[in-house]
Formats: sequence, structure tokens, C-alpha cells
Amino acid sequence: MSVKTITRKSGLRGEITIPGDKSISHRSIMLGAIALGTTEVSNFLEGADCLSTINCFRRMGVEIEKKSDSVLIHGKGMRGLSAPKDTLDVGNSGTTTRLLSGILAGQGFTSVMSGDASLNSRPMGRIITPLQEMGADITSIKGNGCAPLKISPGTLHGISYHSPVASAQVKSAILLAGLYAKGDTQVTEPALSRNHTELMLQSFGADVTTSLHTDGSASAGVRPCPELYGQQIYVPGDISSAAYFIAAGALAPDSELLIKNVGTNTTRAGFLKVCEAMGADLTLLNQASTGGEPRSDILVRTSCLKGTVIEGALIPALIDEIPMLAVMAACAEGTTVIKDAAELKVKETNRIDTVTAGLRAMGADVTPTDDGMIIHGKGAPGKDNTPLRGAEIQSFLDHRIAMSFAVAGLAADGETHITDSQCVDVSYPGFFKTLDNICPA
Ligand code: S3P
Repeated sequence: MSVKTITRKSGLRGEITIPGDKSISHRSIMLGAIALGTTEVSNFLEGADCLSTINCFRRMGVEIEKKSDSVLIHGKGMRGLSAPKDTLDVGNSGTTTRLLSGILAGQGFTSVMSGDASLNSRPMGRIITPLQEMGADITSIKGNGCAPLKISPGTLHGISYHSPVASAQVKSAILLAGLYAKGDTQVTEPALSRNHTELMLQSFGADVTTSLHTDGSASAGVRPCPELYGQQIYVPGDISSAAYFIAAGALAPDSELLIKNVGTNTTRAGFLKVCEAMGADLTLLNQASTGGEPRSDILVRTSCLKGTVIEGALIPALIDEIPMLAVMAACAEGTTVIKDAAELKVKETNRIDTVTAGLRAMGADVTPTDDGMIIHGKGAPGKDNTPLRGAEIQSFLDHRIAMSFAVAGLAADGETHITDSQCVDVSYPGFFKTLDNICPA
């Protein structure tokens, strides 16, 4: 177990380049593996979750080469994967498990996926139900709706599925299985979740349709696909990783940070909208786009934040940033209400509980609710008067809890100790080094 100690800082300065987007990195390996030809991925995220995806495909016979500045995937085509000899280890990664389930449902061999204790307690019924409806032979081995999952050959047919949750992992599992199905497949979700699968499938040559409905729900459809074709992919920086430094720049007095190359796809950029509503001083510079994925540099300066309401269709566009937003809310003036976010309960930890525990340890006023939390901020104006006090923070091995509370530690009096801080490697190896670099000596 490694413990990271953080103390209060002001005068953060520097230029930070954010590592590649985790969601896009996963998808680049998956689609590259089942495409014909070679896919070259630049700015791939070498975090533990994406390495789990690489290892699973290597075990199914896909050659994946790591070059100095890119990853090369020598695709096997839609039906070229081979049966893995052992259980596929999906580590801590929900994205690997759920998306890969969709691909494995279409294969002519049996496979088993299993992960760590957190992963094996997360709900998989949400993908088992629609995949079974498509004709897949997928079961939870322990019968508890969780991994380990066993997937055997089945004959897939297209369905029109109404997902009860706005989840890109559910949507993607169904669309990927739909590539192998007879007939068209459609998924409708109550609000639009991240659309990286739809965008990338289109660029690999799949026939994908999308529509937004007047009630806020969204549909994505796919036609059966004989083959996909390898592509050049540039992965923008992960906005979920950038969020920690945007928050650090806004919270620490006398700070100015330039955060380079941040993916700003609207289905992911809810954090920026909420920052704006809270009064954060942000400027977007050098906007560009590759493969339908927009990106921008973001300049952030110390800001006096105020409370806000975070709810509804915005939630899927910032679901992973809620721990960081909760810390910002504790340092803001006024009340922040987070609702419609029951999905927080089924992330790497129950993040309603783990955020509440961390904030309370630091002296914040937070009340957990069934679908979010209410935070009475005790900060701004008068940035020198921090409302947080240093504390021992349990990360519960949740990377986003560790990073959010490391930033809280920068704004807190005294020392903050983050337990099991190595868990940041799941999505952001190098996080603490970058944090050290922007802090004055
Ligand atoms: C992800 C989707 C989100 C997100 C997760 C990554 C993805 O989960 O929380 O970190 O890459 O598709 P859900 O789809 O379950 O909302």
C-alpha cells in the first residue's frame, strides 16, 4: 500500500499535457482487433484498464505492438479471434468487461472474463439481459449477476432495446454484438451517454445511425457488418483526467495552469459546463478535431466558485467527474445539489458513499441522498480561508477518489494522506508527478 501526502499549496503554475482518453483508447484496441489490416493509435493511454483490454486481445491471438509514440494493432477481422486458453483477466475495468462481452457474444468459441474484487461485484445484468435477448449465451458463473461471466457461441439477431440507464458501456456492448447479428440492432437510452463507440465504428466502416429525441432520450443503431477496416486514430487527452487539474487551478490561490489537448466531445464535457455555472475562470484555446472528436487547450485561473445544481441529461456527460465536482462544491459559496446520479453507486466504488466519507473526514458539510448528494459549501469569497482540513482519506482503491481528494488536499489546511494512492495508475499513471511539477518548490 502506498500513501501519498499532500499539503496546502498556492501559486500553481505550468503547462500540463493530459494523457489519452481512457474510453477512446479501449475502443481503439477493440475495433482495431476485429478490423482487417493495421490500426495505428497515437496518444494511447497506457493506464492499467486499457492494458487489461490489450492483454485480453493478445490472449485471443491479436498481435499488438507498442511503439515509442503509438500502438499498432494487427487486426484479425470480424471472425479472426482465437479461443483464449485461460480466463480473460479484465482487472478493474468495467469498460473492458462490458464492451468485450458484446464482441465475445459474436464469436464461435467459449470464453470466461473475471476481474478484481471491485469489478466482480459490479452489476453485469445490464448487459446480460439485452445480450441474451439478442440470442447470446452469456451467464454470470456465480448466478449473482456479476462477473465472472461465461460466454459461449450463440446465434445473434438484432433487437430494439430500451435501456433503463444512460450507459455507454451498455449501449456499446449491444452495438458491438449487433455487428455480428442478423438484422438491425437499435439501443435507446434515457439520455445520451458518451458516443465514442458510434463515432469510431463509423470511421471503421460500420453502418451506424444515431438520433436524439424531443424527450431527451437518444438512439443508436447498427447494421450487421461483414468487416471493419483498420484506421489511424489520434486519442485526445482525457477530460476526466484534465478535470483534476482544472479543479486544482481553480481552487488553489494565485494559480494559472494551461492544460493542453483536452478532449471536449459534448457527450463528455459536462464538467466544463458545470465549472462555468460555478463561476470558474476557464478559457478554451486552440480548438481542433480528429475523427469527429473535438479537443482544446484549457487555461484555468484561480476562481471564486459558487454552488449549483447538477442534474438530468447532464449527468451522463460528467458522471466520472462527480467526485471532483463534489470537492469543488465543498470549497464554493452556497449549496450544490447533485441528483439523478444513482449510477454513482455502481462505479469502482459506491461513489456516493466514498465521496461522502472523504468530504466528511475533511470537515465538509455533505448529505448523501439516494441519487446524489447535497453539499453546503463553506468556501469563497476570500480564497485564503479554506473550508477543508487535512485528513486521512481512504481511496478504497478507486482511482477517481484518490485523485479528487489529492486535489482537495491542495486546498486543505494541514496534511492529507491518501491511502493506496497507487490506484491512480488505473487511468492516470504519472498523476502525482504532474501534480508535483505544478506545485511551487
Ligand atoms: C465508460 C462509460 C461510463 C464511465 C466509464 C467509462 C465507457 O460508464 O463511467 O468510466 O468507456 O464507456 P457507464 O457506461 O456505465 O455509464
